[in-house]
Amino acid sequence: MTNKAKKWTLILIGGSVFMIAVLTAFLNGGKIFNFKSDSENQHVSSAENENQQENQDNNLKDEVSQPKEPSIEEDIPSLAEVYKDYFPIGAAIEPRYTTGLISELYKKHVNMLVAENCMKPIEIQPTEGNFTWQSADKIVQFAKENGMELRFHTLVWHNQTPDWFFLDKDGKPMVDETDPKKREENKELLLKRLEDHITVVVSRYKDDIKSWDVVNEVIEPGDGNPNGMRNSPWYQITGTEFIERAFKVAREVGGEDLKLYINDYGTDNPVKRDHLYNLVKDMLDKGVPIDGVGHQTHIDVYSPSIDRIIESMKKFAGLGLDNIVTELDMSIYSWNNRSDYGDNIPEDIIQLQAKRYKELFEAFKENKDILSEVVFWGISDEYSWLNGFPVRRTNAPLPFDRNFQAKPAFWAIVEASQ
Ligand code: GLA
Repeated sequence: MTNKAKKWTLILIGGSVFMIAVLTAFLNGGKIFNFKSDSENQHVSSAENENQQENQDNNLKDEVSQPKEPSIEEDIPSLAEVYKDYFPIGAAIEPRYTTGLISELYKKHVNMLVAENCMKPIEIQPTEGNFTWQSADKIVQFAKENGMELRFHTLVWHNQTPDWFFLDKDGKPMVDETDPKKREENKELLLKRLEDHITVVVSRYKDDIKSWDVVNEVIEPGDGNPNGMRNSPWYQITGTEFIERAFKVAREVGGEDLKLYINDYGTDNPVKRDHLYNLVKDMLDKGVPIDGVGHQTHIDVYSPSIDRIIESMKKFAGLGLDNIVTELDMSIYSWNNRSDYGDNIPEDIIQLQAKRYKELFEAFKENKDILSEVVFWGISDEYSWLNGFPVRRTNAPLPFDRNFQAKPAFWAIVEASQ
């Protein structure tokens, strides 16, 4: 062996010994070299002993205070249960929430479901004659398995409706047609498509779903029509005939058992409410089978007043109609505010929300004779459309927080039931 080779051998042996020492020391509790003799080791000072004990205790405490496996709170009241003498408590759901932890929240707290998206026209009949049921069926099945009622949302709407509905037989937008004869043909074609859609959907679900949103959001005073009608393609092409036809077909196909609703937001606003009232009254006079009004009730912590919400229900009840709350949530921002609390939602806002939810549910309870269902638009703040509308930000409109735990709003709603 050359001198150079000898030198390298020594370095390697020395290095290995050092590494073994370091490893042993780590296994020994983090000390690089333990110079104590065995006897010394057996006589560690009582102070060190106490230290070790304390460390052990801390480890134990750490284990206890480690975040638990995520779970829902099993030992709190069920919303559906506490309101069982008044009305079903519902919530909007997506197919993906029918499994996993969030599904437990639905199972515990609601006895009614509505599809947040998957029963809208664009989901059910994306191209003419091609009906897709997979997602909608999943929700129907989940409701059945868990003994929940269902609502259907929605047969007719201007949004989330595929364009093909409104194209003429040559593929041109019907709204652009100026020839009166062709306009008439287009109207018939559109009403036929409407009839076909409703016939197929109602036939499929009439035994499983009793509460139906037949038309959604047909009033929009801002569009400038004197009767307050939204200037949607439906209205531009058929006038109010699409509404008449939709309700009649739903009744013919679904029978007397189905409850048929006209659904809208901002129904507490006197101007909008009165246009809706006039439309519905006119329809009822013509024998159109409308059973009630769905009040979406997307409100915020500041407005509208609860009195106005109830006043509107009373007005429709005066026509012999039922009322339902179809899409309840309570934004923590006022409607025209675009700011974002981020992770720091002020405690007084959370308390304000709780107070208002309490007053709202007290009022619902008092008016149970004219109000037959209360449905939230979601269940946990983690999944709410208001985290993305009108801007992307943190919102907290629902009774359960982002970890599916009960918020002060939840307890306030429970308190209102007592
Ligand atoms: C309206 C519709 C619902 C839903 C919400 C927003 O209220 O009726 O279907 O789209 O907007 O999520």
